[in-house]
Amino acid sequence: MTSPEDVLRKNCKMVHGCPMIYAFTFNWEKVEQFHSRPDDIVIVTYPKSGTTWVSEIVDMIINDGDVEKCKRDVITVKVPMLEMTVPGLRTSGIEQLEKNPSPRLVKTHLPIDLLPKTFWKNNCKMIYVARNPKDVAVSYYHFDLMNNLHPLPGTWENYLENFIAGNVAYGSWFNHVKNWWKKKEEHPILFLYYEDMKENPKKEIKKIATFLEKNLNDENLDKIVHHTSFGMMKDNPLVNYTHIPSTVMDHSKSPFMRKGITGDWKNYFTVAQNEKFDAIYRKEMSGSTLQFRTDF
Ligand code: PPS
Repeated sequence: MTSPEDVLRKNCKMVHGCPMIYAFTFNWEKVEQFHSRPDDIVIVTYPKSGTTWVSEIVDMIINDGDVEKCKRDVITVKVPMLEMTVPGLRTSGIEQLEKNPSPRLVKTHLPIDLLPKTFWKNNCKMIYVARNPKDVAVSYYHFDLMNNLHPLPGTWENYLENFIAGNVAYGSWFNHVKNWWKKKEEHPILFLYYEDMKENPKKEIKKIATFLEKNLNDENLDKIVHHTSFGMMKDNPLVNYTHIPSTVMDHSKSPFMRKGITGDWKNYFTVAQNEKFDAIYRKEMSGSTLQFRTDF
């Protein structure tokens, strides 16, 4: 029997060419054989791009801005993570999804090739949130400090090298965003940016509501903006991940709700790291129409 201790701080294990969190590789067949429902709403991101924020927004939208209904449970129950499993410790994402009523909200960080085919067959709606890679790298570094399911990140310098090379859980940020961006030409995918959500949350929330064919009045939209602001979510134990056992997430190392800002990368990247990153970015992203903002 595998116990939780056996899966902590382990190196990622490759799954179909993608580095995956070791604990999540147990029972991977269940992920591949997952049965979607046509009205599932899939929230996809590269890690640390605003998944939790958009998850709470979508839950509020489908509940017509009713704050009390949104307090019915913790975020990991309301929006289970498809590939999440911690042997011996928690209900897996799939076990939780199987219990949830429709329309289900499904969280995943999977790159496009690993998403179970069932979601394409059922033409499920998908919301992809992208965040500029410099802020993702900084956020991911801090997350790896506090999340014992990930390998230790080492120094920031080393971590950044690994991030650029795609030697982190879920692989290359560049491939993830480029492939999901391309896919939206042929599938109903709403592509959002963290930076736009920070700049004008109400506008982006309206976009999500329209995509989900929900008509919300101004009062309810304002309620959603308020309830899902960083300050509110940071203090909300149902969404700030403090319900996860500290053996898995140690908020004393770095809180899950860390800063919630754009441009924090400027506090971490040296001039040399930034120049190198920009050169690699230009090369990796050439040929894609996808564009990001990093200067704020
Ligand atoms: S995860 O673990 O991949 O699901 O993390 P994810 O939720 O995608 O990303 C976590 C980062 O999002 C920030 N966050 C928010 N920013 C603005 N507003 C709201 N409401 C919000 N909620 C979460 C969170 O603080 C992480 O970013 P950093 O830069 O580390 O603060």
